[in-house]
Amino acid sequence: MDRRLALVTGASAGIGAAFAKIFASHGYDLALTARRTDRLETLAEEIRLRHGVETLVVAADLAKAGAADRILGALSAEGRSVDALVNNAGYGLPGTFAETKWEDQAAFLQVMVTAPCELAHKVLPGMVERRFGRIVNVASLAGLVPGAAGHTLYGASKAMLVRFSQSLHLEGEPSGVHVTALCPGFTYSEFHDVNGTRAQVSASTPPWLWLGADEVAAAGYEAVEANRAICVPGAPNKAIAAVAKLIPDDWALALMASQGPRFRKV
Ligand SMILES: NC(=O)c1ccc[n+]([C@@H]2O[C@H](COP(=O)([O-])OP(=O)(O)OC[C@H]3O[C@@H](n4cnc5c(N)ncnc54)[C@H](OP(=O)(O)O)[C@@H]3O)[C@@H](O)[C@H]2O)c1
Repeated sequence: MDRRLALVTGASAGIGAAFAKIFASHGYDLALTARRTDRLETLAEEIRLRHGVETLVVAADLAKAGAADRILGALSAEGRSVDALVNNAGYGLPGTFAETKWEDQAAFLQVMVTAPCELAHKVLPGMVERRFGRIVNVASLAGLVPGAAGHTLYGASKAMLVRFSQSLHLEGEPSGVHVTALCPGFTYSEFHDVNGTRAQVSASTPPWLWLGADEVAAAGYEAVEANRAICVPGAPNKAIAAVAKLIPDDWALALMASQGPRFRKV
């Protein structure tokens, strides 16, 4: 098999679907995973027709333990190994920590933290052996600013992905494995429909803060090719990330208290 394979999680919508198209446009075969098989099949067909690459669809619920093994097992049954991994699947869990059920938080951690780490851990040895690899962990601007009230573990999970990516970035460098944490701000996708915050977020967030999923994925692709540890797409988001770094922590936290309803939904 000549072409490299990119595995994209959360490929049935938004940023993940955009990443799948970008990797295909650069000659990668695609392995698409998410829960909605019909969406994945439609995208797989579109990509096959437009780019002439091979597409594999593996439906999986990343909240279920063992999902990473099932996905990678299905790919190795086709004789394929993963050259590029985009850990993109994700969602928001509204409410304060006390208001939510532990089962929901545990499933959230499984999707947002455990599954990306497990997938990376399982594809890395092959990447190191072949001396080529690309890993994009789709984090968020929320991982670069202080925590906000509500959506409690969202910022924490994304901050974890940022730190994880930085370490992997350093570890991967000598072996030709590029690792990037992509930290988008507000992005047009299904994200805010799924968590039920669309109306509120649209009303409170100016249009210039939003980027398209294609722009975000293009920035992520470019960053991982250039082997940049962190990529914040868009000038306003870069400015927010820079300010959060420069001001004292208690000022930043006070800002989050006033802007929290906005930033906890990124
Ligand atoms: N949109 C934003 O403003 C924004 C900003 C910063 C960061 N992000 C991050 O960007 C990533 C992609 O989000 P998006 O904006 O593209 O949202 P989206 O359009 O809602 O797409 C989310 C994707 O994740 C998949 N997914 C969700 N739960 C899953 C599960 N249990 N198992 C497997 N797949 C699951 C969904 O597929 P199925 O429903 O078919 O399973 C879908 O393909 C997320 O990690 C999000 O946190 C988004």
